[in-house]
Amino acid sequence: SNQIISSMCSVMVAPSWQDEQELARNQYERMGSDVTMQCGSLDNEASVSWKVNGTDVKAEHRLEGPRLILTEVDLGHNGLYSCFQNPHGERRDTIYLHIGTPPREPTVTCRSNTYPKGFYCSWHQQHPTFIPTTFEVDVTHNLHSLQVQKDPDHKNRCRVRFPEVFSTVPYKVNVTAVNALGKASNTISFEESSIVKPDPPERVTATPVRFNARRLEVSWHSPATWPDIDNFPLKYFLRYRPLIREQWQHVELSDSTSHTITDAYAGKEYIIQVAAKDTEIGTWSDWSVAVHATPWIEDPLPITSTTEVDFSTETKTSPIPSSNAPQKAEPPVGRAARLLTFFSPLLLGMLPLFIW
Ligand SMILES: *[C@@H]1O[C@H](CO)[C@@H](O)[C@H](O)[C@H]1NC(C)=O
Ligand SMILES: *[C@@H]1O[C@H](CO)[C@@H](O)[C@H](O)[C@H]1NC(C)=O
Repeated sequence: SNQIISSMCSVMVAPSWQDEQELARNQYERMGSDVTMQCGSLDNEASVSWKVNGTDVKAEHRLEGPRLILTEVDLGHNGLYSCFQNPHGERRDTIYLHIGTPPREPTVTCRSNTYPKGFYCSWHQQHPTFIPTTFEVDVTHNLHSLQVQKDPDHKNRCRVRFPEVFSTVPYKVNVTAVNALGKASNTISFEESSIVKPDPPERVTATPVRFNARRLEVSWHSPATWPDIDNFPLKYFLRYRPLIREQWQHVELSDSTSHTITDAYAGKEYIIQVAAKDTEIGTWSDWSVAVHATPWIEDPLPITSTTEVDFSTETKTSPIPSSNAPQKAEPPVGRAARLLTFFSPLLLGMLPLFIW
């Protein structure tokens, strides 16, 4: 029906030079082809000379009356060509020659990180075209064209709102790359449930547990982009390993945004990441930014440093300061008691070093 709104999203790709020379007309030609440039509308008997960028044409060429013929052009032939009629040398034409290639099928991917609000599609050209190329994006669902919005933050990306939720009718996205030398389309089709992929969890922190050499408390926040965490809850996947080992350990958690690791190796620095997924559909997010933490270790030094260490759990993604930090807030009594138990012969041997 004529109710269907044809929508498109155009994005310029290559920079264009045509603004620079307002008087010049543009001529686009395929790389590798032989190119004929015609000097205005002069007839076949006219005799002309040509210049490119204001100097003589050095590239291999033929002259046929008012025509300049370049063979097997490449990017080096780009330039501003002017022709002058003999014998008086009046300029008769100015042509900006642009060498490029027609677009090929763009690759297209779509993803919803804002389920159930909408999704976005992005596309890429596998090969450069060297000339300005625009993209038209058509999204249809259930035979209706959907409104497509250009993403303000990302080049080559458009956003679409879901017209309904829990639809099993596939969406069709057709992206057409167009330039002066041709066009090429790619159409992909998918169901709502297959493109849901949240952004990674945010503000992941890992903190040692005082007096417990094997624990790390990990907490995080759901991705801020996920619009309705109450009705569309996420589950999480935690992975952690000591830096010295390759093997990750994994924990899957439904709905909770914290977890206590209880089997950490004492004294080892850990690397920890979290991923998120809708509890019902879609795929796992990418891993969050990695955080580092070391379980609590008894301070080998009875004389602790007086340096202020702000052990704020708000410190996002920054490595947790290791051994010294947890002891900072410790009451003096605890410290004294610990001192007694901790003076092993080994440390006694080292003690003078620190006292003096
Ligand atoms: C003419 O000038 C343009 C812009 O500076 C340059 O890119 C091009 O290579 C030049 N063409 C020739 C044939 O010298
Ligand atoms: C995709 O869009 C282009 C341009 O509008 C059109 O020519 C082509 O037929 C479309 N392809 C499909 C499969 O709908």
